[in-house]
Amino acid sequence: MPSFATDIKSVADQTDNYLKNYFSKQKQSNHLYDAMAYGLFAGGKKIRSYLTVAAFDLFDLEKETAIVVAAAIECVHSYSLIHDDLPAMDNDDFRRGKQSTHKKFGESTAILAGNSLLTIAFEILTNDQLNLDKSIKSDLVFALASCSGHLGIAGGQFLDLSFEGKSQNQKTIIDMQNKKTGELMGFCIEAAAIVAKKNDARSELKHIGLDIGLLFQIADDLLDEYGEEDKLGKPSKQDNKKGKATLLSTLGLEKTNMLTKDLLIKIKNSLKKYGSKADRLISSAEFILQRDH
Ligand code: IPE
Ligand code: IPE
Ligand code: MG
Ligand code: MG
Ligand code: MG
Repeated sequence: MPSFATDIKSVADQTDNYLKNYFSKQKQSNHLYDAMAYGLFAGGKKIRSYLTVAAFDLFDLEKETAIVVAAAIECVHSYSLIHDDLPAMDNDDFRRGKQSTHKKFGESTAILAGNSLLTIAFEILTNDQLNLDKSIKSDLVFALASCSGHLGIAGGQFLDLSFEGKSQNQKTIIDMQNKKTGELMGFCIEAAAIVAKKNDARSELKHIGLDIGLLFQIADDLLDEYGEEDKLGKPSKQDNKKGKATLLSTLGLEKTNMLTKDLLIKIKNSLKKYGSKADRLISSAEFILQRDH
């Protein structure tokens, strides 16, 4: 088994290669295309790609298919980051060690690049080269659409912004974080059950993904306060300044750390029945908590 760092790098490269090839067929010499490519290929950990590949292990599914699903997910994720950095949202000038997309290309182009990355995700899932039954493709599209809109990322981002400067309880913060971050990670894991046609496993896997997403967002909030800007590639110490409602700000460090440990145990317990097929998913959850970027 390769180290986690080597393994995630290899998945990241495969997802990037798929996307580069897909994008090269659509290449346009204009600013909008450049802004999309800038937002998408600016780096990033590709943790969602890795989670998708790891979940496909649970049912011994083909990695090539996982990479296509992962590519669609990374497009949705990159769209969400481009919009998250806009002045009307978090107003951040740096992302992945570079200027944010709107700083480099202007706000209107960044908004349109985000929109186009969101819709291209659904092209990727429905294109003829992806060799899956139409009914599976339709289930993938339905699930990804649901977790991107008002019940998912957009809804969570709305709550995140409307909670600024207002204190919230643990339940409302978890609901907001599940929507803005958890739903998409839930899809990464649920996608494996959709492709395997294991309908009874869908809800359980979605919930494991939601817990992984919550763990991920709590770690992001801890890194905002305690992480190093150089390693993060984005500004730190922003959440407090913006009055963001986070579990860290509501519960304090000790209780937040206890919550993350409990979440990790819960995730590992839920995956026990998959034995060694869950090794990569368990390594991902451990990485999420220990990461410095
Ligand atoms: C950042 O996501 C946004 C959150 C959901 C916290 P990532 O930390 O996965 O961003 P990249 O893709 O690695 O840049
Ligand atoms: C963003 O959360 C979650 C998204 C869905 C984009 P944050 O606003 O905390 O993400 P960063 O810290 O800017 O990456
Ligand atoms: Mg935000
Ligand atoms: Mg932000
Ligand atoms: Mg953050």
